[in-house]
Amino acid sequence: MLDASEVAQHSTKRSCWVIISNHVYDLTDFLENHPGGPNVILRYAGKDATNEYEPVHPAGTLQRHLPANKHLGPVDQSTLTRVDDTPPTLGKSESSIVPHILVCQSLDDIESAARQKLSRKAWVYYDSAADGLHSFRTNRLDWAKISFRPRVLRNVARVNMQRRILGHVANLPFFIAPAAMAKLGHQDGELCLAKGAAEKNIVYCSSTYSSISHEELAPCFDRQEGRGALSFQLYVPKNKGDSRALIERAKALGCKSLVITVDTPVVGKREEDDRYKAELEIEEGREVPRTTSAANNEEAPILRGYHSSTVDWDDILWMRNAWGSNQGPVVLKGIQTAEDAYLASLTGVDGIYLSNHGGRQLDFAPSAIRTLLEIHKFYPQVLDDVEVYLDGGVRRGSDIVKALCLGARGVGLGRPFLYGLSAYGTEGVVKAIEILSDEIETAMRLLGVTNLDQLNPHYVNCSLLAKELPENVTPTNPMRQHKL
Ligand SMILES: Cc1cc2nc3c(=O)[nH]c(=O)nc-3n(C[C@H](O)[C@H](O)[C@H](O)COP(=O)(O)O)c2cc1C
Repeated sequence: MLDASEVAQHSTKRSCWVIISNHVYDLTDFLENHPGGPNVILRYAGKDATNEYEPVHPAGTLQRHLPANKHLGPVDQSTLTRVDDTPPTLGKSESSIVPHILVCQSLDDIESAARQKLSRKAWVYYDSAADGLHSFRTNRLDWAKISFRPRVLRNVARVNMQRRILGHVANLPFFIAPAAMAKLGHQDGELCLAKGAAEKNIVYCSSTYSSISHEELAPCFDRQEGRGALSFQLYVPKNKGDSRALIERAKALGCKSLVITVDTPVVGKREEDDRYKAELEIEEGREVPRTTSAANNEEAPILRGYHSSTVDWDDILWMRNAWGSNQGPVVLKGIQTAEDAYLASLTGVDGIYLSNHGGRQLDFAPSAIRTLLEIHKFYPQVLDDVEVYLDGGVRRGSDIVKALCLGARGVGLGRPFLYGLSAYGTEGVVKAIEILSDEIETAMRLLGVTNLDQLNPHYVNCSLLAKELPENVTPTNPMRQHKL
């Protein structure tokens, strides 16, 4: 049994002990691997972090991530003084009034409701994007650069929106994109996403960093037909053994597809997030950590490198094999150029997922719809060889229809579902799905189609975006013909 004062002595970057749920952990070696950066932990070095930790981590996370010898044992509770760690001025506004859910007519309405309800901490995490927010904004603006070419005088009374998405026959051609830390928005966190997806029979791709354990999410999809499906998103850890363990866990839970995120060798520079954290440090009279480059020092941690920074095309081969061929599709998320789409199509994966991570990674990276047009222009065969998914700035059913016209199999949405659960819990997720369903159905009828397979490039005019595509791409020599 440890005394709280002993813990307090280990409150530096070189020796960082933390109390969580009445137990003491040595997190010193884990600091640089924490997905939210070391400073989130360092705020609690030598202290009780339970109130910060429990709301956003699934039970059992520490046991999974830390070697047993880093668990130092229980703390003597009589020596603990509880601290109220709600920041004095940066907490949640209690005065906000959220409109009745039936008033919400669009995903934008749901977003403004969530904005009124969310704590600043949660809003900043959900809304933030990289650098000057160019990609974040362009994601949305690019959908407006594509217009429709509707056909009339057709019988459109009956419309079918079913589609096989990520290995599952879904009622609708979109899915819930992976997004970490849903518990920041609602106490039931990712359970709201899973229940909403199951109720409406769509796919939910859960994040590696789900704040509810995948073991709790999986039973929401009771494996009956027509009750949605769980897909597993993998952030590739630094250690190969950890990647294998995560893949095995996803298989054991019956996940229907594996989505490997490939656009995060480092995490983007999200200034709204960093500004908020700096404000907190200043309010609490702590030193604001500075960003330093590790470029010239082999030993130093990689700047913003919380996942594997070495993962390459060869790793995709073994991960594909580790998943197996009967488990459902493997999809690479974060493809941003036609060349990489082509290379991916040679690796034996089943799908590619065009995404700039909601504008959170490299600012000025192209919107997914631009990358899709680039593929049409330079490597159209990719559209026949692999399934194509995409996300980013999708806020209307008509955006989804545009993507489908251009050959996408399905479309993901991230923030809108986080906002749905933040404002209204599971009901908000269901409402967001219903809004999109209504918009897709209406757009299809007004375009003159009754089945998703009838959608094709003739129904859209992309000439505005086409003018902005690159003139040439790097000639790509297939590195090798991969055999799996
Ligand atoms: C708060 C937040 C957390 C995210 N977490 C993850 C994640 O854990 N894994 C991942 O592959 N992508 C993650 N993403 C990216 C989303 O999967 C998706 O690419 C992006 O949100 C799409 O843009 P949209 O929010 O405009 O729909 C996250 C995005 C947000 C906004």
